[in-house]
Amino acid sequence: MPATEVEVRTALANVEEPELGLPILELGLVQGIAVDGATAVIAIAEPLADRGRWAELEARVRASVIDLDGVERVEVDVRSMTDDELPAVARVLKGAPPPNPLAVVDANAPSLPAPRINPFTDSRTRVLAIASGKGGVGKSSVTTNLSIALAQRGRRVAVVDADVWGFSLPRMLGVAHPPDLIDDVIVPPTAHGVHVISMGFFTEEDQAVIWRGPMLHKALEQFLTDVYWGAPEYLVVDLPPGTGDIALSIAQFLPRAEVVIVTTPQPAAQKVAQRAASMAEKVDLEVVGVIENMSWFRGDDAKAYEIFGADGGRELADQIGVPLLGRIPLVPALREGGDVGRPIVVADPDDEAAAVFRSIAEQLDSVTLDG
Ligand SMILES: Nc1ncnc2c1ncn2[C@@H]1O[C@H](COP(=O)(O)OP(=O)(O)O)[C@@H](O)[C@H]1O
Ligand SMILES: [Mg+2]
Repeated sequence: MPATEVEVRTALANVEEPELGLPILELGLVQGIAVDGATAVIAIAEPLADRGRWAELEARVRASVIDLDGVERVEVDVRSMTDDELPAVARVLKGAPPPNPLAVVDANAPSLPAPRINPFTDSRTRVLAIASGKGGVGKSSVTTNLSIALAQRGRRVAVVDADVWGFSLPRMLGVAHPPDLIDDVIVPPTAHGVHVISMGFFTEEDQAVIWRGPMLHKALEQFLTDVYWGAPEYLVVDLPPGTGDIALSIAQFLPRAEVVIVTTPQPAAQKVAQRAASMAEKVDLEVVGVIENMSWFRGDDAKAYEIFGADGGRELADQIGVPLLGRIPLVPALREGGDVGRPIVVADPDDEAAAVFRSIAEQLDSVTLDG
Protein backbone atom coordinates (compact mmCIF):
# COMPACT_ATOMS: atom_id res chain seq x y z
CA MET A 1 0.00 0.00 0.00
CA PRO A 2 1.35 3.43 -0.88
CA ALA A 3 1.90 5.89 1.95
CA THR A 4 -0.63 8.70 2.37
CA GLU A 5 0.18 12.39 2.09
CA VAL A 6 -0.72 12.79 5.75
CA GLU A 7 1.81 10.12 6.69
CA VAL A 8 4.49 11.94 4.69
CA ARG A 9 3.56 15.25 6.28
CA THR A 10 3.70 13.69 9.75
CA ALA A 11 7.12 12.21 8.97
CA LEU A 12 8.31 15.72 8.05
CA ALA A 13 7.25 17.17 11.41
CA ASN A 14 10.68 16.56 12.92
CA VAL A 15 12.72 17.94 10.05
CA GLU A 16 14.44 21.22 10.91
CA GLU A 17 15.83 23.73 8.47
CA PRO A 18 19.58 23.24 9.13
CA GLU A 19 20.57 26.93 9.47
CA LEU A 20 17.44 28.20 11.17
CA GLY A 21 16.98 25.25 13.52
CA LEU A 22 13.18 25.37 13.23
CA PRO A 23 10.84 22.73 11.79
CA ILE A 24 10.28 23.21 8.07
CA LEU A 25 6.54 22.74 8.56
CA GLU A 26 6.40 25.52 11.16
CA LEU A 27 8.36 27.75 8.81
CA GLY A 28 5.91 26.98 6.01
CA LEU A 29 8.63 25.71 3.67
CA VAL A 30 6.77 22.60 2.54
CA GLN A 31 4.88 23.64 -0.56
CA GLY A 32 3.51 20.34 -1.68
CA ILE A 33 3.48 16.62 -1.04
CA ALA A 34 2.52 14.02 -3.59
CA VAL A 35 2.64 10.27 -3.47
CA ASP A 36 2.81 8.38 -6.74
CA GLY A 37 2.95 4.67 -6.04
CA ALA A 38 6.20 4.05 -4.15
CA THR A 39 7.54 7.54 -4.90
CA ALA A 40 7.03 10.44 -2.50
CA VAL A 41 7.58 13.89 -3.99
CA ILE A 42 8.15 16.80 -1.65
CA ALA A 43 8.31 20.36 -2.88
CA ILE A 44 10.17 22.83 -0.70
CA ALA A 45 10.68 26.57 -0.95
CA GLU A 46 13.87 27.79 0.77
CA PRO A 47 14.15 31.31 2.21
CA LEU A 48 17.97 31.06 2.25
CA ALA A 49 20.11 31.09 -0.88
CA ASP A 50 21.64 27.71 -1.68
CA ARG A 51 25.42 28.29 -1.51
CA GLY A 52 25.77 24.56 -0.98
CA ARG A 53 23.43 24.58 1.99
CA TRP A 54 20.35 22.96 0.48
CA ALA A 55 21.91 19.52 0.23
CA GLU A 56 21.72 19.05 4.00
CA LEU A 57 18.01 19.91 4.02
CA GLU A 58 17.34 17.53 1.13
CA ALA A 59 19.19 14.76 2.97
CA ARG A 60 17.15 15.37 6.13
CA VAL A 61 13.86 15.28 4.23
CA ARG A 62 14.84 12.14 2.38
CA ALA A 63 15.99 10.37 5.54
CA SER A 64 12.76 11.10 7.40
CA VAL A 65 10.43 9.97 4.61
CA ILE A 66 12.27 6.97 3.17
CA ASP A 67 11.48 4.85 6.25
CA LEU A 68 7.73 5.08 5.73
CA ASP A 69 5.98 1.87 4.76
CA GLY A 70 5.24 1.87 1.05
CA VAL A 71 7.86 4.50 0.17
CA GLU A 72 10.80 3.37 -1.93
CA ARG A 73 11.88 6.62 -3.56
CA VAL A 74 11.90 10.18 -2.30
CA GLU A 75 12.17 13.13 -4.64
CA VAL A 76 12.93 16.46 -3.04
CA ASP A 77 12.37 19.56 -5.13
CA VAL A 78 13.91 22.67 -3.62
CA ARG A 79 13.43 26.13 -5.08
CA SER A 80 14.18 29.63 -3.80
CA MET A 81 11.36 31.48 -2.12
CA THR A 82 10.05 34.52 -3.93
CA ASP A 83 10.20 37.91 -2.20
CA ASP A 84 6.50 37.92 -1.45
CA GLU A 85 6.77 34.58 0.35
CA LEU A 86 9.46 35.79 2.76
CA PRO A 87 7.37 37.90 5.20
CA ALA A 88 5.46 34.84 6.40
CA VAL A 89 8.75 33.12 7.29
CA ALA A 90 10.09 36.28 8.89
CA ARG A 91 7.01 36.39 11.05
CA VAL A 92 7.74 32.92 12.45
CA LEU A 93 11.39 33.89 13.03
CA LYS A 94 10.24 36.93 14.97
CA GLY A 95 8.46 34.69 17.38
CA ALA A 96 4.90 34.88 16.15
CA PRO A 97 3.06 31.67 16.97
CA PRO A 98 3.66 29.24 14.14
CA PRO A 99 0.69 28.03 12.13
CA ASN A 100 -0.59 24.55 12.86
CA PRO A 101 2.15 22.46 11.25
CA LEU A 102 -0.31 19.91 9.92
CA ALA A 103 -2.69 22.47 8.44
CA VAL A 104 -2.55 23.57 4.84
CA VAL A 105 -0.78 26.94 4.65
CA ASP A 106 -2.91 29.80 3.38
CA ALA A 107 -0.58 31.85 1.23
CA ASN A 108 -3.01 34.76 1.22
CA ALA A 109 -3.27 35.15 4.99
CA PRO A 110 -2.27 38.67 6.04
CA SER A 111 1.19 38.88 7.60
CA LEU A 112 0.94 40.78 10.85
CA PRO A 113 3.94 42.56 12.26
CA ALA A 114 5.44 40.64 15.15
CA PRO A 115 6.94 42.38 18.15
CA ARG A 116 10.71 42.73 18.26
CA ILE A 117 12.22 41.69 21.53
CA ASN A 118 15.69 41.16 22.86
CA PRO A 119 15.70 37.38 23.19
CA PHE A 120 18.53 37.33 25.68
CA THR A 121 17.21 39.19 28.73
CA ASP A 122 15.06 36.33 29.91
CA SER A 123 16.27 33.24 28.17
CA ARG A 124 18.33 30.26 29.09
CA THR A 125 21.12 31.38 26.79
CA ARG A 126 24.39 31.69 28.67
CA VAL A 127 26.11 34.89 27.69
CA LEU A 128 29.91 34.96 27.85
CA ALA A 129 31.43 38.40 27.40
CA ILE A 130 35.11 38.19 26.46
CA ALA A 131 36.85 41.28 27.84
CA SER A 132 40.34 42.66 28.25
CA GLY A 133 42.00 45.82 29.43
CA LYS A 134 43.86 46.41 26.19
CA GLY A 135 43.84 45.29 22.59
CA GLY A 136 46.06 42.67 21.06
CA VAL A 137 45.97 40.23 23.97
CA GLY A 138 43.95 37.65 22.05
CA LYS A 139 40.29 38.36 22.85
CA SER A 140 39.12 37.63 19.33
CA SER A 141 41.28 34.53 19.07
CA VAL A 142 39.77 33.30 22.33
CA THR A 143 36.23 34.18 21.21
CA THR A 144 36.75 32.31 17.94
CA ASN A 145 38.30 29.13 19.28
CA LEU A 146 36.24 28.96 22.47
CA SER A 147 33.01 29.37 20.50
CA ILE A 148 33.94 26.59 18.11
CA ALA A 149 35.04 24.37 21.00
CA LEU A 150 31.60 24.87 22.56
CA ALA A 151 29.92 24.07 19.23
CA GLN A 152 32.07 20.94 18.98
CA ARG A 153 30.49 19.89 22.29
CA GLY A 154 27.14 19.93 20.52
CA ARG A 155 26.01 23.35 21.72
CA ARG A 156 24.20 25.89 19.57
CA VAL A 157 26.53 28.88 19.71
CA ALA A 158 26.01 32.47 18.62
CA VAL A 159 28.80 35.02 18.45
CA VAL A 160 28.50 38.79 18.46
CA ASP A 161 31.53 40.78 17.38
CA ALA A 162 31.00 43.87 19.52
CA ASP A 163 34.47 45.20 18.78
CA VAL A 164 33.09 47.64 16.25
CA TRP A 165 36.44 49.40 15.84
CA GLY A 166 38.59 46.35 15.41
CA PHE A 167 36.16 43.75 14.16
CA SER A 168 38.06 40.67 13.16
CA LEU A 169 35.71 37.74 13.65
CA PRO A 170 34.50 37.33 10.05
CA ARG A 171 38.07 36.81 8.91
CA MET A 172 39.17 34.74 11.93
CA LEU A 173 36.18 32.43 11.71
CA GLY A 174 36.47 32.21 7.95
CA VAL A 175 32.92 33.33 7.23
CA ALA A 176 32.33 32.80 3.55
CA HIS A 177 29.31 34.99 2.92
CA PRO A 178 27.42 37.95 4.40
CA PRO A 179 24.25 37.52 6.48
CA ASP A 180 21.07 36.46 4.70
CA LEU A 181 17.97 38.60 4.82
CA ILE A 182 14.57 36.99 5.21
CA ASP A 183 12.33 39.98 4.67
CA ASP A 184 13.58 42.28 7.47
CA VAL A 185 15.15 39.58 9.62
CA ILE A 186 18.93 39.22 9.51
CA VAL A 187 20.11 35.61 9.52
CA PRO A 188 23.73 35.32 10.66
CA PRO A 189 26.12 33.26 8.59
CA THR A 190 27.67 30.20 10.20
CA ALA A 191 31.27 29.10 10.22
CA HIS A 192 32.56 25.94 11.89
CA GLY A 193 29.17 25.53 13.50
CA VAL A 194 28.84 28.97 15.10
CA HIS A 195 26.44 31.73 14.06
CA VAL A 196 28.12 35.13 13.88
CA ILE A 197 27.21 38.76 13.43
CA SER A 198 29.83 41.46 13.07
CA MET A 199 29.92 45.12 12.14
CA GLY A 200 32.38 43.86 9.53
CA PHE A 201 29.40 42.65 7.50
CA PHE A 202 27.92 46.12 7.36
CA THR A 203 30.91 48.39 6.75
CA GLU A 204 33.80 48.39 4.32
CA GLU A 205 36.96 47.00 5.88
CA ASP A 206 38.99 50.17 5.35
CA GLN A 207 36.18 52.60 6.05
CA ALA A 208 36.77 54.72 9.14
CA VAL A 209 33.74 54.65 11.38
CA ILE A 210 33.55 57.06 14.24
CA TRP A 211 31.56 55.35 16.91
CA ARG A 212 30.13 57.30 19.78
CA GLY A 213 28.54 55.74 22.83
CA PRO A 214 24.90 56.03 21.72
CA MET A 215 25.66 54.60 18.25
CA LEU A 216 27.47 51.69 19.82
CA HIS A 217 24.54 51.12 22.12
CA LYS A 218 22.16 51.15 19.15
CA ALA A 219 24.36 48.84 17.07
CA LEU A 220 24.54 46.31 19.87
CA GLU A 221 20.79 46.49 20.36
CA GLN A 222 20.23 45.81 16.67
CA PHE A 223 22.66 42.90 16.73
CA LEU A 224 20.59 41.39 19.50
CA THR A 225 17.08 42.15 18.30
CA ASP A 226 17.06 42.38 14.50
CA VAL A 227 19.01 39.17 14.12
CA TYR A 228 17.44 35.74 14.21
CA TRP A 229 19.56 33.80 16.71
CA GLY A 230 17.38 30.77 17.24
CA ALA A 231 17.65 30.31 21.02
CA PRO A 232 21.35 29.51 21.23
CA GLU A 233 22.72 27.83 24.32
CA TYR A 234 25.68 30.21 24.29
CA LEU A 235 26.06 33.77 23.13
CA VAL A 236 29.74 34.72 23.09
CA VAL A 237 30.44 38.45 22.83
CA ASP A 238 33.83 39.74 21.70
CA LEU A 239 34.07 43.09 23.47
CA PRO A 240 36.17 46.03 22.36
CA PRO A 241 39.27 46.51 24.50
CA GLY A 242 39.10 48.73 27.53
CA THR A 243 36.39 49.76 29.85
CA GLY A 244 34.29 52.12 27.76
CA ASP A 245 30.59 52.65 27.22
CA ILE A 246 30.10 49.15 25.92
CA ALA A 247 30.13 47.67 29.43
CA LEU A 248 27.07 49.73 30.31
CA SER A 249 25.28 48.62 27.16
CA ILE A 250 26.12 44.98 27.82
CA ALA A 251 24.86 45.33 31.38
CA GLN A 252 21.61 46.76 30.08
CA PHE A 253 20.96 44.39 27.19
CA LEU A 254 22.61 41.28 28.61
CA PRO A 255 22.23 41.64 32.37
CA ARG A 256 23.10 38.00 32.98
CA ALA A 257 26.34 38.11 31.01
CA GLU A 258 29.30 36.30 32.53
CA VAL A 259 32.56 38.14 31.93
CA VAL A 260 35.73 36.27 31.00
CA ILE A 261 38.90 38.35 31.15
CA VAL A 262 41.80 37.72 28.81
CA THR A 263 45.28 38.88 29.77
CA THR A 264 48.89 38.16 28.96
CA PRO A 265 51.32 37.08 31.69
CA GLN A 266 52.96 40.51 32.01
CA PRO A 267 52.38 42.40 35.26
CA ALA A 268 51.57 45.54 33.23
CA ALA A 269 48.87 43.76 31.24
CA GLN A 270 47.51 42.26 34.40
CA LYS A 271 47.07 45.73 35.89
CA VAL A 272 45.12 46.96 32.87
CA ALA A 273 43.02 43.80 32.89
CA GLN A 274 42.20 44.46 36.53
CA ARG A 275 40.48 47.65 35.38
CA ALA A 276 38.22 45.65 33.09
CA ALA A 277 37.28 43.52 36.07
CA SER A 278 36.48 46.61 38.16
CA MET A 279 34.32 47.95 35.36
CA ALA A 280 32.37 44.70 35.19
CA GLU A 281 31.81 44.89 38.92
CA LYS A 282 30.64 48.49 38.68
CA VAL A 283 27.89 47.59 36.23
CA ASP A 284 26.97 44.46 38.18
CA LEU A 285 28.28 41.88 35.74
CA GLU A 286 29.80 38.75 37.17
CA VAL A 287 33.38 37.89 36.27
CA VAL A 288 33.58 34.10 35.98
CA GLY A 289 37.18 33.50 35.04
CA VAL A 290 40.50 34.61 33.64
CA ILE A 291 42.29 33.27 30.58
CA GLU A 292 46.00 33.88 30.24
CA ASN A 293 47.12 34.05 26.61
CA MET A 294 50.59 33.98 25.05
CA SER A 295 51.81 32.17 28.15
CA TRP A 296 54.77 30.40 26.60
CA PHE A 297 56.36 29.45 23.32
CA ARG A 298 57.56 25.91 22.79
CA GLY A 299 60.79 25.85 20.84
CA ASP A 300 62.10 23.11 18.59
CA ASP A 301 63.95 21.89 21.66
CA ALA A 302 60.50 21.16 23.21
CA LYS A 303 61.27 23.63 25.98
CA ALA A 304 58.57 26.13 27.01
CA TYR A 305 59.90 29.70 26.92
CA GLU A 306 57.89 32.19 28.95
CA ILE A 307 58.47 35.16 26.69
CA PHE A 308 56.05 37.55 28.36
CA GLY A 309 56.86 36.47 31.89
CA ALA A 310 54.80 34.26 34.11
CA ASP A 311 51.90 34.27 36.54
CA GLY A 312 50.01 37.36 35.35
CA GLY A 313 46.88 35.32 34.78
CA ARG A 314 47.17 33.42 38.05
CA GLU A 315 47.67 36.63 40.04
CA LEU A 316 44.78 38.40 38.35
CA ALA A 317 42.48 35.42 38.95
CA ASP A 318 43.46 35.32 42.63
CA GLN A 319 43.02 39.05 42.95
CA ILE A 320 39.47 38.89 41.54
CA GLY A 321 38.74 35.61 43.28
CA VAL A 322 37.82 33.61 40.16
CA PRO A 323 39.37 30.53 38.54
CA LEU A 324 42.19 30.73 36.01
CA LEU A 325 40.41 28.85 33.21
CA GLY A 326 43.48 28.19 31.14
CA ARG A 327 46.88 29.26 29.89
CA ILE A 328 47.21 29.37 26.11
CA PRO A 329 50.65 29.06 24.53
CA LEU A 330 51.91 31.24 21.71
CA VAL A 331 51.69 29.16 18.56
CA PRO A 332 52.35 30.50 15.08
CA ALA A 333 49.58 28.24 13.70
CA LEU A 334 47.08 30.06 15.89
CA ARG A 335 47.99 33.39 14.34
CA GLU A 336 48.13 31.97 10.82
CA GLY A 337 44.78 30.23 11.30
CA GLY A 338 43.26 33.50 12.45
CA ASP A 339 44.50 35.29 9.36
CA VAL A 340 42.95 32.82 6.93
CA GLY A 341 39.86 31.65 8.78
CA ARG A 342 41.19 28.25 9.81
CA PRO A 343 40.94 28.45 13.62
CA ILE A 344 43.37 26.18 15.41
CA VAL A 345 40.71 24.04 17.11
CA VAL A 346 39.58 23.06 13.61
CA ALA A 347 42.82 23.24 11.64
CA ASP A 348 45.05 21.49 14.16
CA PRO A 349 42.97 19.93 16.95
CA ASP A 350 46.00 18.07 18.33
CA ASP A 351 47.93 21.26 19.00
CA GLU A 352 48.41 22.04 22.68
CA ALA A 353 46.67 25.42 22.30
CA ALA A 354 43.61 23.68 20.83
CA ALA A 355 43.55 21.35 23.82
CA VAL A 356 43.53 24.35 26.18
CA PHE A 357 40.55 25.86 24.34
CA ARG A 358 38.65 22.57 24.64
CA SER A 359 39.48 22.40 28.34
CA ILE A 360 38.18 25.95 28.88
CA ALA A 361 34.99 25.11 26.99
CA GLU A 362 34.54 22.03 29.13
CA GLN A 363 35.02 23.96 32.38
CA LEU A 364 32.52 26.65 31.39
CA ASP A 365 30.09 24.07 30.03
CA SER A 366 30.18 21.96 33.17
CA VAL A 367 28.73 24.78 35.25
CA THR A 368 24.96 24.67 34.99
CA LEU A 369 22.84 27.76 35.22
CA ASP A 370 20.39 28.04 38.04
CA GLY A 371 16.77 29.01 37.42
N1 LIG B 1 48.24 32.32 21.54
C1 LIG B 1 48.58 32.95 20.42
N2 LIG B 1 49.57 32.49 19.63
C2 LIG B 1 49.91 33.13 18.48
N3 LIG B 1 49.32 34.25 18.04
C3 LIG B 1 48.32 34.75 18.78
C4 LIG B 1 47.88 34.14 20.00
N4 LIG B 1 46.84 34.86 20.50
C5 LIG B 1 46.65 35.89 19.64
N5 LIG B 1 47.53 35.82 18.61
C6 LIG B 1 47.64 36.77 17.49
O1 LIG B 1 47.85 38.06 18.04
C7 LIG B 1 47.11 39.04 17.33
C8 LIG B 1 46.11 39.72 18.28
O2 LIG B 1 45.17 38.76 18.72
P1 LIG B 1 43.61 39.08 18.74
O3 LIG B 1 42.91 37.82 19.07
O4 LIG B 1 43.20 39.79 17.52
O5 LIG B 1 43.57 40.06 20.01
P2 LIG B 1 42.48 41.13 20.46
O6 LIG B 1 41.17 40.69 19.94
O7 LIG B 1 42.55 41.11 21.95
O8 LIG B 1 42.91 42.44 19.91
C9 LIG B 1 46.41 38.29 16.20
O9 LIG B 1 47.19 38.40 15.05
C10 LIG B 1 46.37 36.86 16.69
O10 LIG B 1 46.36 35.93 15.63
MG1 LIG C 1 39.84 41.70 18.67
